[in-house]
Amino acid sequence: MVDAWHYTPGPMALAQRTVLIAGATGALGSAVSLACARYGATVVLCGRNVAELEKLYDRIEESGARQPAIIPVDLEGASDTDYQTVSEALAGGLTVLDGLLHIAGTLGQLSPIEHTATRQWRRALSVNLSAPFFLTQACMPLLKRSPDASIVFTLDDKTRAYWAGYGVAKAGLAALAKILADEWDPPPGETRNLRVNAVDPGPLRSKLRRAAYPAENAQLPADPAERVAPYLYLLSEASRDVNGMLFCHGQAARAL
Ligand SMILES: NC(=O)c1ccc[n+]([C@@H]2O[C@H](COP(=O)([O-])OP(=O)(O)OC[C@H]3O[C@@H](n4cnc5c(N)ncnc54)[C@H](OP(=O)(O)O)[C@@H]3O)[C@@H](O)[C@H]2O)c1
Repeated sequence: MVDAWHYTPGPMALAQRTVLIAGATGALGSAVSLACARYGATVVLCGRNVAELEKLYDRIEESGARQPAIIPVDLEGASDTDYQTVSEALAGGLTVLDGLLHIAGTLGQLSPIEHTATRQWRRALSVNLSAPFFLTQACMPLLKRSPDASIVFTLDDKTRAYWAGYGVAKAGLAALAKILADEWDPPPGETRNLRVNAVDPGPLRSKLRRAAYPAENAQLPADPAERVAPYLYLLSEASRDVNGMLFCHGQAARAL
């Protein structure tokens, strides 16, 4: 298998790909969105902050890349109707979706379980776990039209003290990715057109990281632009046969 962390796509490796990025305006999400656009993908930028989405849209358009699209949605407490609206907006503007990158995430408050507030717990579970579940469902009709659709979840192994809802939600997300990958593993001899994998990018300079480690030297974690390679790899033809794998920074790729 290719070393996903050092994968260098050809100049227009994603030229035929339309990719939705949830959490497009965040530190990692914007780096991945810009990289996907640079390698030729049509990107659908999904986030809750319309002004930030528009700024990113302008950057991509000014770079000469394909014209992006914007889908605003607040993933905290998004209703069935909101996801139906996303599904209809996608179907109204696109004929196919080749990639879905789940990069949105929220930390909430680090605290012992005993003292975790209901609102913090609900927010963490809603944004980090329920939203990827419902967004995947909303995108499914268009993903199924692709000859090679790829979904990528963003994980973070924090099943230890004080990570509360964030740690639990990310563990649940790993389970969701594994179950989906298993559902889409075709019987021998049949071709797969849907695959699902996950990336754990390791420590990155971002709002989320600063909230978790406020005393840390802000320059220590990696620049998110240095961690986009596995997302590009998993969207590309080079990973056509890769399903159910976790790419964790600093470790060998392994099954979810
Ligand atoms: N940073 C790290 O060290 C690290 C390590 C491992 C994994 N990760 C994972 O990497 C991913 C990206 O995180 P990041 O470090 O780039 O953090 P970030 O800069 O804080 O980005 C988080 C993104 O999620 C979005 N988001 C949060 N709540 C939302 C909501 N209710 N509705 C819609 N969007 C919402 C944010 O939008 P707003 O800008 O509008 O808030 C932002 O776009 C996350 O899944 C995180 O768990 C990060």
